[in-house]
Amino acid sequence: MSTTVAETSADTTTAPNATPTAATGADPTFEELAGRVDRAVSALAELEPAARSVAEELKAAVEAVHRAGLVTIVRRMKADDGARPVLFDLVDDPVVHLLLSLHEIVRPDPMTLGNRVLVEVRPQLQSHGGDVTLVRIEDGTAFVRLSGACNGCSMSSVTLRNLVESAMIEGVPSVTAVEVLPNEPSPTLIPVDALWVGPDPAKEGWVRAASADAIPDGAISRFDLTSESGAEAQVIVVNLDQRLTAYRNECAHEGLPLDDALIDTAGGTLTCPWHGFCYDATSGECLSSPGAQLEQLPMRVDDDQVWIRVGT
Ligand code: FES
Repeated sequence: MSTTVAETSADTTTAPNATPTAATGADPTFEELAGRVDRAVSALAELEPAARSVAEELKAAVEAVHRAGLVTIVRRMKADDGARPVLFDLVDDPVVHLLLSLHEIVRPDPMTLGNRVLVEVRPQLQSHGGDVTLVRIEDGTAFVRLSGACNGCSMSSVTLRNLVESAMIEGVPSVTAVEVLPNEPSPTLIPVDALWVGPDPAKEGWVRAASADAIPDGAISRFDLTSESGAEAQVIVVNLDQRLTAYRNECAHEGLPLDDALIDTAGGTLTCPWHGFCYDATSGECLSSPGAQLEQLPMRVDDDQVWIRVGT
């Protein structure tokens, strides 16, 4: 078989799938090359079955030629003391690495493998309203961030997290553990109009719960409140060193009541009596499952009276 090297600057024809830089003769970037492959693979999937099998056979035949040539080049360079450092240098080049990975001549790095694994499980997570991002792999541990339904303590979110964990451990040989990173901290913002008490707070959904001195320090007090518009809420107020915080009386795990939770005043935590999920008592952040959160309700103290907003 003979080959010719095209003078790209003199080549005025442009393939339908070519990139703009390919048309101008400049070296295409890694992103352009990868994008071109992705577009071609998508176009292939849309062909009629007969045309697709011809195209796939052509692709397989061309790849087999490329792979055979690349294996020879890599073997020779590996065996040559002078060429070996050049080979290792080349493998660090993203395009060369992609080429050798595609032909399975070098093993993809753990991050590439990990992202491939997540591509497989992502549809299942997304069908339940969740998602996952691989942040880094370090010392055999994959650090991921979870969002949507993957967060929380519910059984379904635990199942989704287990799915990510087992897929990563099975699919990436160097990974032996998966750790979930907390999501970026975000301030708890209460809209200004939710805090404003007009001339008649009851019309704004505020309900008087109790006088402040009736809420004992170091304890949880429960209130069943109904707003003027009929909104009902079971609420707990946590008093930790005279700092009051109101939450809806529902554990983030299975929504069971928290008014019998164990309060640890020294550690500043609440522990759910049902299955033991532990929360920061003043922020409601779940310490057992990063990302899960108790629902905090707007609260204010006016003239020693504790008001909680439960509706509009
Ligand atoms: S309901 Fe299960 S830990 Fe709270």
